[in-house]
Amino acid sequence: MSSLSSQLSQRIETVTGTDPELRPATKPQFGHFQSNVALRLAKQEGVNPRDVAARIVADLDLDDLCETPEIAGPGFINFRLRSGVLAATVTAQLADPRAGIPHTSKPQRVIIDYSSPNVAKQMHVGHLRTTIIGDCFNRVLTALGHTVIPQNHLGDWGRQFGMLIEQIADEHLDLTILDLAGAEALYRRANAHLASDEGFAARARARVVALQSGDPETLAAWHRLIEISLAGFNATYARMNVLLTDDDIAGESSYNEMLPAIAGDLEARGVATMDNGALVVFAEGFEAPAIIRNSAGGYGYDITDLAAIRHRVDTLHADRIIYVTDARQHHHFELLFAVARMAGYLPAGVVAEHVGYGMVLGADGTPIKTRDGGTVPLESLLDAAEEHASPQIALSAIKYADLSNSLQKDYVFDAERMTRTIGDTGPYLQYAHSRCAGILGEARARGIDSAGIEVLAEPTEQELALWLTRFGETVQVVADELTPHKLCIYLFELATKFSSFYEKCPVLKSEGAVRASRLGLVAATKQVLATGLDLLGIEAPERM
Ligand code: ARG
Repeated sequence: MSSLSSQLSQRIETVTGTDPELRPATKPQFGHFQSNVALRLAKQEGVNPRDVAARIVADLDLDDLCETPEIAGPGFINFRLRSGVLAATVTAQLADPRAGIPHTSKPQRVIIDYSSPNVAKQMHVGHLRTTIIGDCFNRVLTALGHTVIPQNHLGDWGRQFGMLIEQIADEHLDLTILDLAGAEALYRRANAHLASDEGFAARARARVVALQSGDPETLAAWHRLIEISLAGFNATYARMNVLLTDDDIAGESSYNEMLPAIAGDLEARGVATMDNGALVVFAEGFEAPAIIRNSAGGYGYDITDLAAIRHRVDTLHADRIIYVTDARQHHHFELLFAVARMAGYLPAGVVAEHVGYGMVLGADGTPIKTRDGGTVPLESLLDAAEEHASPQIALSAIKYADLSNSLQKDYVFDAERMTRTIGDTGPYLQYAHSRCAGILGEARARGIDSAGIEVLAEPTEQELALWLTRFGETVQVVADELTPHKLCIYLFELATKFSSFYEKCPVLKSEGAVRASRLGLVAATKQVLATGLDLLGIEAPERM
């Protein structure tokens, strides 16, 4: 079902022949929407805008939708939806388990590459954002009826495993008792060792070769490091209440076998060329080439991502591929897409997008760091927020803070501010939801029925109702543009409109059809808040 404003807009356009560019009215006495279409047409024709407005109003047949439109000022046209139409629309939305979210007419298979932490390293603050944002995209696109295939592009391959496994051998480390924090400590020791000991560096290189050639003992240690890391990642995912499961893991190593064939294919077709001993692809508009195979014969990040694209297009049949990483990888993905298009691995019909996000800043406004200058583990951010609130509320605070600004912006991690239950925060929206739940619970306890919405006389009732009907179109915009902050803005505005309504309009103290209608508005607000918060990955408790 199309939203009320777009229905209205289409009806006006058939008369005027041009988009009426409906704007929300600035004051209740101006109705619900205003259009300047008469002013624009009058200017073209060189006639009086009020005359044009009068002609349009005479030609319009909107009786089933609106009151008679009014002409205002120099020639604006004001539209007021019939309150019966508003009431019926919200009532229908309340009965819809999807709360008015449209079902897409073109379902797509959408790959979302997100989270993607690295083995033997704890998830750090950078992985906070990709995990929260990717998960939100997952929920929003799924809600519209798309098939979402998450891909956790785990960093589970590379030269670092040479030094890690060699260090394990040196220390006779017992891998059965190691955990992810222990693996990360091992990583640091191996790194220091590598820098200070030539002999160790040589053995680490030999270990990479042993890993690549499938030496059983080396492979076993590598497997164990992955297992340990996954246990740690899964604990964090559970704590963050995200949708990712082990089924979504497609680590870098899963593409190993495809790499020689891809390099061969690109070279044979002349897409890739030799450059100082390395096999590379130069793409138009990019200074540096993509590295297909380095001069030592090794494969790296670029070609692995090319292989991932082939897998996603050919095997997973992607229509749209979305990558969520920090903004600093933007160039990598732009080059990747260009090379994949040149190579014919990414057909014109498949959309590929990189969503780059800004940094998480500390209180001092610079990228957040530990006291000794290291990267902050994600878990410690969750701990910090939990110092101010219960886990459920702390998590909502973090997710909302992460999603409520446009993604490209950096934001300050201020655990105290974001856990507040007033202001533009996740806990505030949870609180608004629990308030609705409280009112409805009270009504139930008193045996009061909230059958349907019939009367919407008060301006705050109408404004709330109209805003409720705009939920579906908002979700659609968020999916098209990948802008979760627009859903946050919508929900915050909903909570604000609900507050004004609740201040002006007694619910349980009113009677008859007025009370039933107001209860219906409360129920519809609760439904949209719960559904909207769920799309952000935030739980909506009944009580707080
Ligand atoms: N593992 C990488 C990191 O932690 C992110 C991988 C992103 N996905 C991709 N297909 N390259 O920075």
